[in-house]
Amino acid sequence: MSEIWLVTGAAGGLGRAVVAKGRSAGAKIAVTGRDSERLKDAFGDEHLQIEADVSTSEGAKLAVATCVERLGTPTRLAHCVGSILIAPAARTTEQQYRDVLRSNLDSAFFTLSNVVAAARSAGQGASLCFVSTIAAQIGIANHEAVAAAKGGLDAMVRSAAATYAPQGIRVNAVAPGLMDTPAAAKFLSTPALREASAKQYPLGSIGSAEEIADLMSWLLSDAASRVTGQVWALDGGFTAVRPLVR
Ligand SMILES: NC(=O)c1ccc[n+]([C@@H]2O[C@H](COP(=O)([O-])OP(=O)(O)OC[C@H]3O[C@@H](n4cnc5c(N)ncnc54)[C@H](OP(=O)(O)O)[C@@H]3O)[C@@H](O)[C@H]2O)c1
Repeated sequence: MSEIWLVTGAAGGLGRAVVAKGRSAGAKIAVTGRDSERLKDAFGDEHLQIEADVSTSEGAKLAVATCVERLGTPTRLAHCVGSILIAPAARTTEQQYRDVLRSNLDSAFFTLSNVVAAARSAGQGASLCFVSTIAAQIGIANHEAVAAAKGGLDAMVRSAAATYAPQGIRVNAVAPGLMDTPAAAKFLSTPALREASAKQYPLGSIGSAEEIADLMSWLLSDAASRVTGQVWALDGGFTAVRPLVR
């Protein structure tokens, strides 16, 4: 029987790469986004396309209920909704802060709660993967709002993994560094900016949506059946090693 994947933020850079993984794995896929035209542009007539804003409780409920009704209870969740904000706390407006919390943390919590409720009422296990950031693992200047939101997400992942382990529901996250997607376009818009960014990473390159999608699809799969409560950095060594500076 094929798996049922729910991919949120599916029309974004990472979302599209994850949907491509699910497609190659032969999954039935439900994709969500706030704009049905954007979903149509990304996926044509493929997949179950659900217009919903999962950063609200009602939107997340609608997304999961539509998936259950039209495709079946999701056995895999790839939650790709989120945003980036590079700004020091003193220059972050209240609106920016609230937007960052909403897109990165509220969306994760409401999606988690609806997906686990659906899995429990169907009496089935599931595997969930969220997207954090290296800025929640190590202090990076000018990331206070995003670090707060994603740090909350990391703690949520560990707690949910503990709560739902007895039901066979696994909950993990990946933590990318800078990743070449539309969200990061302005930081990578010239060769000089790309080079300066790549130099920040011990392995000296910029991450891709494809490599993060590969890790997510492994974490979602039964090959990772003994992995839960983890936040896995895929960051060219940024959070783990400090090479000699010559
Ligand atoms: N790119 C990076 O350098 C980087 C680094 C570390 C972590 N991340 C994380 O990676 C994940 C994927 O991001 P990406 O790089 O693929 O960016 P992206 O291309 O901008 O995609 C992000 C998606 O999130 C959705 N979204 C944004 N704000 C939202 C809000 N307030 N409410 C509901 N949905 C919202 C958008 O969906 P709609 O289609 O509805 O607009 C969009 O498709 C995010 O969690 C991001 O924080 C990215």
